[in-house]
Amino acid sequence: MLTLGIETSCDDTGVAVLKDEREVLCEYLSSQIADHSRFGGVIPEFAARKHLENLLPLINAALRECGIRGQDLDLIAVTRGPGLMGSLIVGVMTARAMSQSWRVPVIGVNHLEGHMFAPLVDAPDLEPPFISLIVSGGHTEIIDVEAFGKYELLGETRDDAAGEAYDKAARIMGLKYPGGPEIDRLAKTGDPHAFGFPVPLKNTDKVEFSFSGLKTALLWQVKKFQEKGDALPVNDLCASFQRAAVDALVSKVLLASRLTGRKRVAVSGGVSANSALREALKSRREVNVWLPKLSRCTDNAVMIAMAGRNAWVRNGCVSNDDVVPDPSLHEL
Ligand code: KG4
Ligand code: ZN
Repeated sequence: MLTLGIETSCDDTGVAVLKDEREVLCEYLSSQIADHSRFGGVIPEFAARKHLENLLPLINAALRECGIRGQDLDLIAVTRGPGLMGSLIVGVMTARAMSQSWRVPVIGVNHLEGHMFAPLVDAPDLEPPFISLIVSGGHTEIIDVEAFGKYELLGETRDDAAGEAYDKAARIMGLKYPGGPEIDRLAKTGDPHAFGFPVPLKNTDKVEFSFSGLKTALLWQVKKFQEKGDALPVNDLCASFQRAAVDALVSKVLLASRLTGRKRVAVSGGVSANSALREALKSRREVNVWLPKLSRCTDNAVMIAMAGRNAWVRNGCVSNDDVVPDPSLHEL
Protein backbone atom coordinates (compact mmCIF):
# COMPACT_ATOMS: atom_id res chain seq x y z
CA MET A 1 0.00 0.00 0.00
CA LEU A 2 1.46 3.35 -1.08
CA THR A 3 0.50 6.50 0.86
CA LEU A 4 1.42 10.02 -0.15
CA GLY A 5 1.67 12.27 2.92
CA ILE A 6 1.31 16.04 2.67
CA GLU A 7 2.03 18.50 5.51
CA THR A 8 1.47 22.25 5.14
CA SER A 9 -0.03 23.30 8.47
CA CYS A 10 2.49 26.00 9.35
CA ASP A 11 5.77 26.97 7.70
CA ASP A 12 7.20 23.62 6.55
CA THR A 13 6.13 22.06 3.27
CA GLY A 14 6.45 18.29 3.67
CA VAL A 15 5.86 15.47 1.20
CA ALA A 16 6.56 11.77 1.77
CA VAL A 17 5.72 8.40 0.27
CA LEU A 18 5.17 5.54 2.68
CA LYS A 19 5.01 1.90 1.71
CA ASP A 20 2.69 -0.15 3.89
CA GLU A 21 2.78 0.72 7.56
CA ARG A 22 6.14 2.42 8.05
CA GLU A 23 8.59 1.95 5.18
CA VAL A 24 9.62 5.44 4.10
CA LEU A 25 10.27 5.40 0.33
CA CYS A 26 11.11 9.08 0.20
CA GLU A 27 10.63 12.24 2.22
CA TYR A 28 11.00 15.88 1.29
CA LEU A 29 10.85 18.92 3.47
CA SER A 30 11.10 22.51 2.40
CA SER A 31 11.64 24.68 5.45
CA GLN A 32 10.70 28.35 5.38
CA ILE A 33 12.65 29.17 8.53
CA ALA A 34 15.14 31.39 6.69
CA ASP A 35 12.26 33.32 5.07
CA HIS A 36 10.39 33.90 8.33
CA SER A 37 13.26 34.38 10.77
CA ARG A 38 13.92 37.91 9.49
CA PHE A 39 10.39 38.80 10.71
CA GLY A 40 10.94 37.07 14.10
CA GLY A 41 8.04 34.64 13.55
CA VAL A 42 5.81 33.01 10.96
CA ILE A 43 3.88 35.41 8.69
CA PRO A 44 0.75 33.41 7.73
CA GLU A 45 0.13 34.99 4.33
CA PHE A 46 3.74 34.55 3.34
CA ALA A 47 3.73 30.92 4.53
CA ALA A 48 0.73 30.10 2.34
CA ARG A 49 2.38 31.62 -0.73
CA LYS A 50 5.54 29.60 -0.10
CA HIS A 51 3.52 26.37 0.18
CA LEU A 52 1.94 27.22 -3.17
CA GLU A 53 5.37 27.58 -4.75
CA ASN A 54 6.86 24.49 -3.10
CA LEU A 55 4.18 21.84 -2.89
CA LEU A 56 3.71 20.68 -6.50
CA PRO A 57 7.44 20.56 -7.28
CA LEU A 58 7.99 18.48 -4.13
CA ILE A 59 5.18 16.06 -5.01
CA ASN A 60 6.60 15.66 -8.54
CA ALA A 61 10.09 15.08 -7.14
CA ALA A 62 8.78 12.50 -4.67
CA LEU A 63 6.88 10.53 -7.32
CA ARG A 64 9.90 10.65 -9.63
CA GLU A 65 12.24 9.45 -6.88
CA CYS A 66 9.93 6.54 -6.05
CA GLY A 67 9.47 5.70 -9.74
CA ILE A 68 5.68 5.80 -9.47
CA ARG A 69 2.82 7.76 -11.04
CA GLY A 70 0.09 9.48 -9.06
CA GLN A 71 -2.36 6.78 -10.18
CA ASP A 72 -0.20 4.12 -8.50
CA LEU A 73 -0.88 5.57 -5.05
CA ASP A 74 -3.43 3.91 -2.77
CA LEU A 75 -4.06 6.86 -0.47
CA ILE A 76 -3.32 10.55 -0.05
CA ALA A 77 -3.06 11.71 3.58
CA VAL A 78 -3.10 15.44 4.17
CA THR A 79 -3.01 17.58 7.32
CA ARG A 80 -6.38 19.29 7.69
CA GLY A 81 -5.77 21.09 11.00
CA PRO A 82 -4.93 22.56 13.41
CA GLY A 83 -2.75 25.16 11.77
CA LEU A 84 -2.77 28.34 9.74
CA MET A 85 -5.83 28.56 7.48
CA GLY A 86 -4.01 29.75 4.37
CA SER A 87 -1.34 27.08 4.74
CA LEU A 88 -3.88 24.31 5.34
CA ILE A 89 -5.94 25.34 2.31
CA VAL A 90 -2.97 24.90 0.00
CA GLY A 91 -2.30 21.34 1.23
CA VAL A 92 -5.92 20.20 1.45
CA MET A 93 -7.04 21.62 -1.89
CA THR A 94 -3.98 20.25 -3.67
CA ALA A 95 -4.63 16.81 -2.14
CA ARG A 96 -8.29 16.90 -3.14
CA ALA A 97 -7.50 17.96 -6.69
CA MET A 98 -4.95 15.15 -7.08
CA SER A 99 -7.36 12.69 -5.53
CA GLN A 100 -9.97 13.59 -8.15
CA SER A 101 -7.66 13.46 -11.10
CA TRP A 102 -5.75 10.29 -10.09
CA ARG A 103 -8.85 8.58 -8.57
CA VAL A 104 -7.04 7.93 -5.33
CA PRO A 105 -8.83 8.28 -1.96
CA VAL A 106 -7.82 11.16 0.29
CA ILE A 107 -7.95 11.33 4.07
CA GLY A 108 -7.64 14.40 6.31
CA VAL A 109 -5.24 14.02 9.24
CA ASN A 110 -5.21 15.84 12.57
CA HIS A 111 -1.73 17.36 12.81
CA LEU A 112 -1.52 16.33 16.48
CA GLU A 113 -2.29 12.71 15.66
CA GLY A 114 0.45 13.06 13.06
CA HIS A 115 2.96 14.13 15.72
CA MET A 116 1.79 11.26 17.88
CA PHE A 117 2.83 8.84 15.13
CA ALA A 118 6.32 10.34 14.60
CA PRO A 119 8.06 8.17 17.23
CA LEU A 120 6.34 5.08 15.82
CA VAL A 121 7.92 5.34 12.37
CA ASP A 122 11.20 3.79 13.51
CA ALA A 123 9.80 1.78 16.41
CA PRO A 124 7.94 -1.36 15.35
CA ASP A 125 8.11 -2.44 19.01
CA LEU A 126 6.00 0.50 20.20
CA GLU A 127 2.34 -0.48 20.37
CA PRO A 128 -0.55 1.02 22.35
CA PRO A 129 -1.31 1.38 25.16
CA PHE A 130 1.15 4.19 25.86
CA ILE A 131 1.11 7.82 26.87
CA SER A 132 2.01 10.47 24.36
CA LEU A 133 3.61 13.81 25.18
CA ILE A 134 3.12 16.20 22.27
CA VAL A 135 5.24 19.25 22.79
CA SER A 136 5.46 21.69 19.92
CA GLY A 137 5.17 25.36 19.04
CA GLY A 138 1.38 25.23 19.21
CA HIS A 139 0.63 22.46 21.71
CA THR A 140 1.80 20.92 24.94
CA GLU A 141 -0.35 18.02 25.99
CA ILE A 142 -0.29 14.50 27.32
CA ILE A 143 -2.64 11.96 25.77
CA ASP A 144 -3.48 8.47 26.88
CA VAL A 145 -3.36 6.22 23.82
CA GLU A 146 -5.36 3.17 24.75
CA ALA A 147 -5.50 2.02 21.14
CA PHE A 148 -5.03 3.76 17.82
CA GLY A 149 -8.07 6.01 17.47
CA LYS A 150 -8.90 5.74 21.17
CA TYR A 151 -7.36 8.77 22.79
CA GLU A 152 -7.97 10.58 26.06
CA LEU A 153 -6.52 13.99 26.79
CA LEU A 154 -4.91 13.74 30.23
CA GLY A 155 -3.88 17.37 30.39
CA GLU A 156 -2.48 20.30 28.48
CA THR A 157 -1.02 23.76 28.89
CA ARG A 158 -3.08 26.48 30.52
CA ASP A 159 -1.38 29.17 28.47
CA ASP A 160 1.69 29.10 26.20
CA ALA A 161 2.87 25.93 24.52
CA ALA A 162 6.44 24.96 25.46
CA GLY A 163 7.81 25.75 21.99
CA GLU A 164 6.01 29.09 22.02
CA ALA A 165 7.64 29.86 25.39
CA TYR A 166 11.06 28.96 23.95
CA ASP A 167 10.41 31.24 20.96
CA LYS A 168 9.24 34.12 23.16
CA ALA A 169 12.12 33.65 25.60
CA ALA A 170 14.56 33.78 22.70
CA ARG A 171 12.99 36.98 21.46
CA ILE A 172 13.31 38.53 24.95
CA MET A 173 17.04 37.74 24.87
CA GLY A 174 17.42 39.05 21.32
CA LEU A 175 18.04 35.60 19.82
CA LYS A 176 16.87 34.56 16.39
CA TYR A 177 13.69 32.67 15.47
CA PRO A 178 12.94 29.81 16.04
CA GLY A 179 14.14 30.17 19.60
CA GLY A 180 14.06 26.52 20.68
CA PRO A 181 17.15 25.32 18.82
CA GLU A 182 19.05 28.54 19.70
CA ILE A 183 18.33 28.26 23.43
CA ASP A 184 19.15 24.54 23.33
CA ARG A 185 22.52 25.29 21.69
CA LEU A 186 23.49 28.18 23.99
CA ALA A 187 22.32 26.34 27.13
CA LYS A 188 24.99 23.70 26.56
CA THR A 189 27.68 26.10 27.81
CA GLY A 190 25.60 27.82 30.50
CA ASP A 191 24.97 27.15 34.19
CA PRO A 192 21.46 25.69 34.65
CA HIS A 193 21.44 26.85 38.27
CA ALA A 194 22.62 30.42 37.68
CA PHE A 195 19.03 31.68 37.99
CA GLY A 196 16.33 30.03 40.10
CA PHE A 197 13.51 30.24 37.59
CA PRO A 198 10.30 28.62 38.87
CA VAL A 199 9.31 25.19 37.60
CA PRO A 200 5.69 25.84 36.67
CA LEU A 201 3.02 23.73 38.45
CA LYS A 202 5.64 21.19 39.45
CA ASN A 203 4.02 20.18 42.71
CA THR A 204 0.38 19.97 41.67
CA ASP A 205 -1.21 16.56 41.26
CA LYS A 206 -2.84 17.53 37.96
CA VAL A 207 -1.44 16.82 34.53
CA GLU A 208 -1.22 20.40 33.32
CA PHE A 209 1.40 22.85 32.18
CA SER A 210 1.94 26.59 32.31
CA PHE A 211 4.84 28.35 30.65
CA SER A 212 3.86 32.00 30.67
CA GLY A 213 5.08 32.59 34.25
CA LEU A 214 8.47 31.13 33.40
CA LYS A 215 8.74 33.41 30.39
CA THR A 216 7.81 36.43 32.56
CA ALA A 217 10.41 35.46 35.19
CA LEU A 218 13.00 35.46 32.42
CA LEU A 219 11.76 38.82 31.16
CA TRP A 220 12.20 40.44 34.62
CA GLN A 221 15.67 39.00 34.93
CA VAL A 222 16.65 40.35 31.52
CA LYS A 223 15.21 43.78 32.41
CA LYS A 224 17.36 43.91 35.55
CA PHE A 225 20.50 43.46 33.46
CA GLN A 226 19.31 45.97 30.88
CA GLU A 227 18.48 48.63 33.50
CA LYS A 228 21.98 48.33 34.94
CA GLY A 229 23.43 48.45 31.44
CA ASP A 230 25.14 45.06 32.01
CA ALA A 231 25.71 42.52 29.26
CA LEU A 232 23.25 39.61 29.34
CA PRO A 233 24.69 36.30 30.54
CA VAL A 234 22.81 34.66 27.68
CA ASN A 235 24.18 31.15 28.10
CA ASP A 236 23.33 31.04 31.82
CA LEU A 237 19.86 32.48 31.15
CA CYS A 238 19.25 29.86 28.45
CA ALA A 239 20.49 27.00 30.61
CA SER A 240 18.39 28.12 33.60
CA PHE A 241 15.28 28.63 31.47
CA GLN A 242 15.79 25.22 29.89
CA ARG A 243 16.28 23.51 33.27
CA ALA A 244 12.90 24.81 34.46
CA ALA A 245 11.07 24.02 31.20
CA VAL A 246 12.47 20.48 30.99
CA ASP A 247 11.80 19.84 34.66
CA ALA A 248 8.14 20.87 34.17
CA LEU A 249 7.74 18.54 31.18
CA VAL A 250 9.48 15.55 32.76
CA SER A 251 7.65 15.85 36.09
CA LYS A 252 4.25 15.78 34.34
CA VAL A 253 5.22 12.81 32.18
CA LEU A 254 6.11 10.93 35.36
CA LEU A 255 2.85 12.03 36.98
CA ALA A 256 0.83 10.86 33.96
CA SER A 257 2.65 7.54 34.07
CA ARG A 258 1.86 7.12 37.76
CA LEU A 259 -1.80 8.07 37.28
CA THR A 260 -2.38 5.75 34.32
CA GLY A 261 0.00 2.97 35.27
CA ARG A 262 1.50 3.17 31.77
CA LYS A 263 5.26 2.85 31.53
CA ARG A 264 5.59 3.44 27.81
CA VAL A 265 5.92 7.05 26.77
CA ALA A 266 6.10 8.39 23.21
CA VAL A 267 7.31 11.97 22.84
CA SER A 268 6.92 14.15 19.76
CA GLY A 269 6.67 17.69 18.41
CA GLY A 270 9.37 20.28 17.77
CA VAL A 271 10.46 20.52 21.41
CA SER A 272 11.13 16.76 21.49
CA ALA A 273 14.30 17.68 19.54
CA ASN A 274 15.55 19.41 22.68
CA SER A 275 18.76 17.76 23.82
CA ALA A 276 18.17 18.32 27.56
CA LEU A 277 14.61 16.99 27.37
CA ARG A 278 15.74 13.89 25.46
CA GLU A 279 18.50 13.17 27.97
CA ALA A 280 16.31 13.82 31.00
CA LEU A 281 13.54 11.54 29.75
CA LYS A 282 15.88 8.74 28.72
CA SER A 283 17.56 8.81 32.12
CA ARG A 284 14.33 8.12 34.03
CA ARG A 285 14.04 4.48 34.97
CA GLU A 286 10.34 4.75 35.84
CA VAL A 287 9.41 4.99 32.14
CA ASN A 288 10.47 3.64 28.73
CA VAL A 289 10.69 6.53 26.33
CA TRP A 290 10.45 6.57 22.53
CA LEU A 291 11.56 9.68 20.64
CA PRO A 292 11.43 10.43 16.90
CA LYS A 293 14.68 10.93 15.08
CA LEU A 294 15.62 14.61 15.13
CA SER A 295 14.38 15.45 11.63
CA ARG A 296 10.94 14.07 12.47
CA CYS A 297 10.44 15.93 15.75
CA THR A 298 9.39 19.06 13.88
CA ASP A 299 6.68 19.08 11.22
CA ASN A 300 7.08 16.49 8.46
CA ALA A 301 4.96 14.48 6.05
CA VAL A 302 6.10 10.99 7.09
CA MET A 303 4.15 11.25 10.34
CA ILE A 304 1.09 12.47 8.42
CA ALA A 305 1.30 9.57 5.97
CA MET A 306 1.61 7.04 8.79
CA ALA A 307 -1.24 8.53 10.85
CA GLY A 308 -3.45 8.81 7.75
CA ARG A 309 -2.81 5.25 6.65
CA ASN A 310 -3.47 3.96 10.15
CA ALA A 311 -6.81 5.81 10.31
CA TRP A 312 -7.75 4.69 6.80
CA VAL A 313 -7.08 1.03 7.61
CA ARG A 314 -9.04 1.47 10.85
CA ASN A 315 -12.02 3.41 9.56
CA GLY A 316 -12.02 3.15 5.81
CA CYS A 317 -12.19 6.08 3.50
CA VAL A 318 -14.19 9.27 3.87
CA SER A 319 -15.65 11.20 0.98
CA ASN A 320 -13.60 13.98 -0.55
CA ASP A 321 -16.08 16.52 0.77
CA ASP A 322 -15.23 15.61 4.37
CA VAL A 323 -11.62 16.62 3.88
CA VAL A 324 -11.81 20.29 4.74
CA PRO A 325 -9.25 22.54 6.41
CA ASP A 326 -9.99 23.26 10.07
CA PRO A 327 -7.48 25.67 11.67
CA SER A 328 -8.81 25.05 15.18
CA LEU A 329 -9.23 21.28 14.96
CA HIS A 330 -8.24 20.02 18.37
CA GLU A 331 -9.72 16.90 19.90
CA LEU A 332 -8.11 13.78 18.58
O1 KG4 B 1 6.25 20.68 15.81
P1 KG4 B 1 6.75 21.96 15.25
O2 KG4 B 1 7.66 21.92 14.05
O3 KG4 B 1 5.57 22.90 14.83
C1 KG4 B 1 4.36 22.95 15.51
O4 KG4 B 1 3.48 22.10 15.24
O5 KG4 B 1 4.28 23.87 16.38
O6 KG4 B 1 7.47 22.73 16.46
C2 KG4 B 1 8.13 23.95 16.33
C3 KG4 B 1 8.57 24.40 17.72
C4 KG4 B 1 9.15 25.82 17.75
O7 KG4 B 1 8.54 26.52 18.81
C5 KG4 B 1 10.63 25.58 18.04
O8 KG4 B 1 11.25 26.63 18.76
C6 KG4 B 1 10.60 24.30 18.85
O9 KG4 B 1 9.59 23.52 18.23
N1 KG4 B 1 11.88 23.58 18.81
C7 KG4 B 1 12.64 23.38 19.91
C8 KG4 B 1 13.82 22.72 19.47
N2 KG4 B 1 13.71 22.53 18.11
C9 KG4 B 1 12.51 23.06 17.74
N3 KG4 B 1 12.44 23.72 21.19
C10 KG4 B 1 13.40 23.39 22.08
N4 KG4 B 1 14.55 22.78 21.73
C11 KG4 B 1 14.81 22.41 20.46
N5 KG4 B 1 15.94 21.80 20.13
ZN1 ZN C 1 3.66 20.44 14.47
